[in-house]
Order: sequence, then structure tokens, then C-alpha cells
Amino acid sequence: MQPVLSDLQRLARQAGEILRLGYEQEHQVDYKGTIDLVTEVDHQSEDFLLGEIQRLFPGHQIVSEEIGLVPGRPGDQWYVDPLDGTVNYAHGIPFFSVSIAYAHNGIVTLGVVYDPMRNELFAAERGQGAQVNGRSLKVSQVTELQRSLLVTGFPYDAWSTPHDNVEFYGRFARRTQGVRRMGSAALDMCYVGAGRFEGYWELSVKPWDVAAGGLVASEAGATVTRLDGQADYVTPPCSLLAAAPGLYGKMKAALDE
Ligand code: IPD
Ligand code: CA
Ligand code: CA
Repeated sequence: MQPVLSDLQRLARQAGEILRLGYEQEHQVDYKGTIDLVTEVDHQSEDFLLGEIQRLFPGHQIVSEEIGLVPGRPGDQWYVDPLDGTVNYAHGIPFFSVSIAYAHNGIVTLGVVYDPMRNELFAAERGQGAQVNGRSLKVSQVTELQRSLLVTGFPYDAWSTPHDNVEFYGRFARRTQGVRRMGSAALDMCYVGAGRFEGYWELSVKPWDVAAGGLVASEAGATVTRLDGQADYVTPPCSLLAAAPGLYGKMKAALDE
């Protein structure tokens, strides 16, 4: 059986409630890398989501951030980020989300991103447009970098990799109204879909970061590709460029300089 959008919406709201209830409590923080952390609430949200997906859709395959691969039929593939914005969460900054996507035969068809602190539920079904809390989303009409506000993120290996995004950040900071670093890639892409940002890019992301938000942005009218322009941004190694159509080419050209 295949899920429908309301299944993902219900799961995201319920997991978001777990995050909201745990917010501003003392957290047990474990380190996956020097600056890559995880809290007990990431695991609680993930346990809930994986349990429900397996109960409702037995045999489906799941890729989820903390646990990795739950093997199943690859034609019924889920991507789960139980808490996107963990560093914000651990610091008591109210900007984080739950991100859930479903792909049928390799094509992401359903995507939902939920921000429990603002009660904003972003949702998209391929070919059916994107909504936030039921309202249709539409990307920005801006076509000039100098009229744009962008958003980006930095990888957890930024201390050691030459691809730390600092040069690109400087390039855009000098040509736009500003570049934000909000801390939740999934919400960053939904905000592009909502026309709040004109564009988002990031060098090193994971399928669970981008599968749902990428569908929301593209269904709202954004152009969404890897940084090199290739269409498949969900197969690792992933990078992402999502922008209003009038700005995509200008962002791509600046990245390619
Ligand atoms: C991270 C956030 C962040 C992005 C990183 C992601 P996490 O996810 O989305 O904004 O810059 O690339 O890994 O670790 O909070 O789930
Ligand atoms: Ca993430
Ligand atoms: Ca996460």
C-alpha cells in the first residue's frame, strides 16, 4: 500500500509534538563528530516515526538520519529527518523541523516539513503544488541578486574540509540583501517555496535533509537541482541549489565563477 499526503502530515504533526514537548528541557547531548550532535529527542522522534511507518506500511524501506537504513522494498522508499535543526534545538533556539518524504520507484512523490514552534505544516505532492497549512505556496518573482535574500548552511566537517562554503557565502553576502544561516535545511527550502527567501544553496547535505523540502520548493515553482545543475538531488553525495526561477541562473553563474 502507498501512503497519501495526509499520512505524512499526521506523522509529522505527531513527531513535531514530541519535539515541542521536549523543547527547553535539559537535553542529553551526544557527539557524532566534533560539532555534529544528537539529543535524546532526535531518537524519541525517530523511534516514533519509524515505528508508525513500519506498522502502517510494512515492507517499505526507510532511510532515517540516526538509525540509517531500515531495509525493505526500494520501490517504496521513505526519507526521515526526525529533527532537522538539532544544533538550534540543543541551544534552545526555536527553529527546527520534522522532515518526511516518500519516493515511489525512485521518484519523490510526497514531502512534508513541520515546524512545531510556529505550527507551520509545509506539504507537497508531485504535480499538485505545495501548501503551508492548506494555503498555496508560490515562489518569489524577484530576478535581481541585489533584491534577493538568500539562505545557506555549512557542513559538520567545516573545520577540516576545503569545501566549507565560506567563499560562496562571502560572494553572495556582497551581492544580495543578505544571506541567512537558519539551521534547518528542510525549512530553508520550504521558505524558498513560500517566497520568503529567493534562494538556498548548500554544498553537502543528505537525502533526509532535502527530499521533502526540495519537493515543496519545486512544487511551489522553484528550480531545484544539485549545485552542478543535475536534476537528481536526492541520490548521495547530495548538494542543493533551490531558487526562484528568475534568480536560479544568476545564483548558478555566481557559484560557477
Ligand atoms: C542540518 C541542518 C543544517 C544544515 C546541515 C544539516 P541536522 O541537519 O539542516 O541547517 O546546514 O547540513 O545537516 O543535523 O540538524 O538534522
Ligand atoms: Ca538534517
Ligand atoms: Ca536531524
